[in-house]
Amino acid sequence: MQYELDTSTSPSANKSDCLIVAVFSKNNKANLGDAAKELDKQSKGALSEITKSGDFDGSLEQTQLLYKLDGVATSRVLMVGCGEKKSFDTVALNKAMKAASKALKSSKIKDLCIYLTDSYKNKEQLNALTQIVIAQADTNYQLLDYKSESKDETTLRKVSLGLADFDKLDKSDLSKAIKNGAAIAKGMSLAKDLANHPGNVCTPTYIAEQADVVANDYANISIDILEEKDMAKLGMGSFLSVSKGSDEPGKMIILEYKGAKDKDQAPIALVGKGITFDTGGISLKPGASMDEMKFDMGGAAGMLGTLKACAEMKLPINLVVVLAAAENMPSARASKPGDIVTSMSGKTIEVLNTDAEGRLVLCDALTYVGKYNPEVVIDAATLTGACIIALGHHICAVLSNDDGLASDIMNAGNTINDRAWQLPMGDDYKKQLKSSFADLGNIGGRAAGTITAACFLGEFTKDYKWAHLDIAGTAWEGKDATGRPVPLLSQYLINKASA
Ligand code: BES
Ligand code: MN
Ligand code: ZN
Repeated sequence: MQYELDTSTSPSANKSDCLIVAVFSKNNKANLGDAAKELDKQSKGALSEITKSGDFDGSLEQTQLLYKLDGVATSRVLMVGCGEKKSFDTVALNKAMKAASKALKSSKIKDLCIYLTDSYKNKEQLNALTQIVIAQADTNYQLLDYKSESKDETTLRKVSLGLADFDKLDKSDLSKAIKNGAAIAKGMSLAKDLANHPGNVCTPTYIAEQADVVANDYANISIDILEEKDMAKLGMGSFLSVSKGSDEPGKMIILEYKGAKDKDQAPIALVGKGITFDTGGISLKPGASMDEMKFDMGGAAGMLGTLKACAEMKLPINLVVVLAAAENMPSARASKPGDIVTSMSGKTIEVLNTDAEGRLVLCDALTYVGKYNPEVVIDAATLTGACIIALGHHICAVLSNDDGLASDIMNAGNTINDRAWQLPMGDDYKKQLKSSFADLGNIGGRAAGTITAACFLGEFTKDYKWAHLDIAGTAWEGKDATGRPVPLLSQYLINKASA
């Protein structure tokens, strides 16, 4: 899909196949946005005729499609309810855009122009453009299809963004905001593709192949893959205690992106949990909904997607991305509850529950990434069911050894509408991980499961600033991958690059 800034002189002169225009609501009555007003004037009241009837009051997510208005160049106008103008924030904007995309889903439109940004000025207006692109792409993402009867392909090829008053804003800033949105959308789409593939296709080897594709697509990305024998040499006994239960070989995939002027500038490290299927191992999960455990590589998918978005945006930063990919299976070679393993850090771990495997693969990845002397390290993992109980599918959890880093992450999430909420850490929680035999147990009991999981990781991240994102709830919703936390992390990196 091509996204660009629209340069028509006015909405009524715009020759796209369809225009999306905002209609707000005021005291339960419709209030046409600037673009809608202009179309209304040119068409001698075609839009206000509808709003006056009371059928359309501008409440959020309402839609009405109109054909062939007099005095208007386009053949279709979609009125979209945006709710009260004063509460038209990024959350409402996303909802309005998604409602609009749904209303046009089965249409045969080839190019579309969106005017949803009347009420924005300056910086906020730029962010709105980025948001619109992401929301449009998100709703139009086509599920990978394993069905023999293929679905209708979209005819849409071009989306342009119209503004009521672009003279006041710098055109290159506007185009950049749109490009950023398109880059983030590409990263999200990659993350969704990876996570939606079933476990028999998306294996650790498959993730390594897809990472290789990304590395080949951009000149400033290099890739290195640690095989199980390499990991054995490095002493990654914790990672290997998970992968050894599976016939699919585990892989530690390392990608480096050099975008900063100074190639030696300390990188930002992104570490992703890549369990391509989580059966629980010998601590086998119950059968109901076990299919969803194909999304247990959502952290790795999100980090690879973020890398792609960053490379598309050509951000002037250095990144190192580590994907810890393994399959968690029960087998004669699998870890048993009570087994004790030695991690790369030298710490010994009593594997009290083989279903708490994410932290076992991540701790070695987190130790390994220390050799890059990273400025900060962020990991993302579908780590605990407890996180879904705490925050649902709306907001991810962030836990950190640095409150400043946690706020930077939350701020980025608020800007791009991919929110995070901080949970505490601390010694009281850490105590729950005590083991009678080893340095650490891999579980901390039922209470505060998301926090004790983070405390476990925190034992391996003492040498650098670190934040952990538990995306168990946000990486997928229903039966679909969401592409999160690609927007959150991309925005964090955009902010870093301009700091
Ligand atoms: N991948 C799961 C967490 C998960 C559960 C993500 C449900 C999404 C939906 C993780 O490996 C796991 O099994 N965690 C256990 C930890 C427990 C054994 C301490 C959990 O949450 O039950
Ligand atoms: Mn598990
Ligand atoms: Zn898991």
